Amino acid sequence: MTIPKLRLLLGDAEIRPAANEMELHPHLQQPELFRYVVEHGIVPIGYSPIGSPGRPERDRTPEDTVDIEDPVIVSIAKRVGVAPAVVCVKWAIQRGHVPIPFSVKRANYLGNLRAAVSEPLTAEDMAAIARIDKNCRLIKGQVFLWREGQSWEDLWDVNGEIAR
Ligand SMILES: NC(=O)c1ccc[n+]([C@@H]2O[C@H](COP(=O)([O-])OP(=O)(O)OC[C@H]3O[C@@H](n4cnc5c(N)ncnc54)[C@H](OP(=O)(O)O)[C@@H]3O)[C@@H](O)[C@H]2O)c1
Repeated sequence: MTIPKLRLLLGDAEIRPAANEMELHPHLQQPELFRYVVEHGIVPIGYSPIGSPGRPERDRTPEDTVDIEDPVIVSIAKRVGVAPAVVCVKWAIQRGHVPIPFSVKRANYLGNLRAAVSEPLTAEDMAAIARIDKNCRLIKGQVFLWREGQSWEDLWDVNGEIAR
């Protein structure tokens, strides 16, 4: 949910939402929505936390960037001795959201789980990753459009209002 939709929901809901599942990775940090969710006592859950490198073609555009190829992520990964994907997971946990990385490979999902219990990233690492936000939404949601002339941006209330 976006901030405008959450405002509407929170105005009416007798039972408040416990969590908001939202796309969160180093190239889409959504600081405003993240802050809003936390300030309202809602747990932010980050989907596609590694930047969804295996997502389907329908969710790819030429402008998309690749988190795990970002020089900042790659250089931290080399220094720490982990995969770039693990740096993304560590960043998420330390930032305070709940990442839900997907993997079908044992080595990869073990690496992602270990991210939660191994040496944390430094404050400098966290600050460097905060600076690489590109507002690059990867899971655009085209599959949820059903009317002629709609664009995927309409789903995300980019102008601060719910698109009609
Ligand atoms: N609520 C929603 O609208 C929404 C939208 C999108 C996604 N989600 C959920 O969020 C979860 C994750 O999203 P996602 O699958 O889009 O993206 P993701 O977790 O960012 O990326 C998954 C991809 O990263 C690879 N990977 C995972 N760990 C790795 C590692 N340690 N080293 C190298 N590669 C690694 C995986 O390949 P291997 O399998 O080969 O390791 C897979 O191709 C899914 O369970 C999905 O259902 C929810």
